[in-house]
Amino acid sequence: MSTEEDKYPVESDRRRFVKGVVGAAAIAGIGSTGAAAVNTATPPTGTGGGVIDFMGIERTGGPAPRGMPIIPVEIDDDGTISGRWPEVQEVEVEGQTEFIAEEELGGLTYSSQWYQYCGKQTSPALLPQAQQNNEFLSSPQSQYEWQGELGEDEALNLDHFDDYEEWGNEIGDDGVGKPAAATWRSDGLDGGDVLEVIVIRSTAIEEAAEEDEFLEAATEEGVFAFLNVCTHFCCIPGFKVSETADNIGAGDSVFCQCHQSVYDPFSIFEQSFISFPQPDDVEEPEGGGDDEEDGDGEEEEGGEDEEGGEEEGGGDEDGGGDEEEEGGEEGDDEVGEEGGGEGADEGDEEDAAQGGDDGAEGAEGAAGGGGEDDNGGESGL
Ligand code: FES
Repeated sequence: MSTEEDKYPVESDRRRFVKGVVGAAAIAGIGSTGAAAVNTATPPTGTGGGVIDFMGIERTGGPAPRGMPIIPVEIDDDGTISGRWPEVQEVEVEGQTEFIAEEELGGLTYSSQWYQYCGKQTSPALLPQAQQNNEFLSSPQSQYEWQGELGEDEALNLDHFDDYEEWGNEIGDDGVGKPAAATWRSDGLDGGDVLEVIVIRSTAIEEAAEEDEFLEAATEEGVFAFLNVCTHFCCIPGFKVSETADNIGAGDSVFCQCHQSVYDPFSIFEQSFISFPQPDDVEEPEGGGDDEEDGDGEEEEGGEDEEGGEEEGGGDEDGGGDEEEEGGEEGDDEVGEEGGGEGADEGDEEDAAQGGDDGAEGAEGAAGGGGEDDNGGESGL
């Protein structure tokens, strides 16, 4: 059980909801006009999008332009581990009701937009108001042997990580941290709509949290999590699952087999990127969205938009190039192009990521192409 169980109580209804006025800065990102800062690959309509600061693990090598975003965790009284979903706010913009999920946490603004890349912006899981289960559920795709003892979609519990100080699996060093592959907010969803996550409990994070305001707020008991979607071309990397990674000295790093990007999960800092707007036609998952808490029953409504929106399922962690299929209408070969222009640091990745149903081709192009692209740009920081 968490020793700080009162700090971030997990609400039984799994979300916070505030209806009312939000600050001008928050509103600025809402609606299609908020896309002004987004590069030319950005679809013309949608909610949010633009330059976003986020906390992420560090990209230390390979073509990925930046790190992957942290998901703040909460642990309830019985040890169940969940990802914190930001406070949901309802705002009126140009006569339309919009929702944002955003709050101050650990000294910065935590937003659902942290995860709006690689086509995930079209996932109903990221609809601010969607009442999805925020528990981290054991992933059926997990390659960690120890997760074989868990039931399918069983919620991760702190008890599962009791041996975190010595756990090992012959890749990298023992005692670095115990990982689990999980899904988040993905009940009722499949394919590319699913949010794949890595959860790790580590003494390194326990110690770091003692001196870092954000980590103190976003981790508990040394448990932290990140969205496991490579910021290069959207593959699903792995942590301590790849002998290849071990062979190149990345056994204790997060390694993306597609083009060998490497991330240090224990180095977490503020970064920035250009998030995609959420298309207006993303529908709430079945069973969600009845927003009982504020009692008005309003739901986000959405017009059309031309973004393809369909995504397809991701690869696995050592699948040797079976990338997660994201991609979009323009997904096919733009993966090989320079993002061009401004946008710049993310350009090509975002092209590749634009949600659509031909993503598989794009992914293959990326994987099969030997990896290189011009994605030299670093993230905004
Ligand atoms: S390195 Fe991960 S998709 Fe290219």
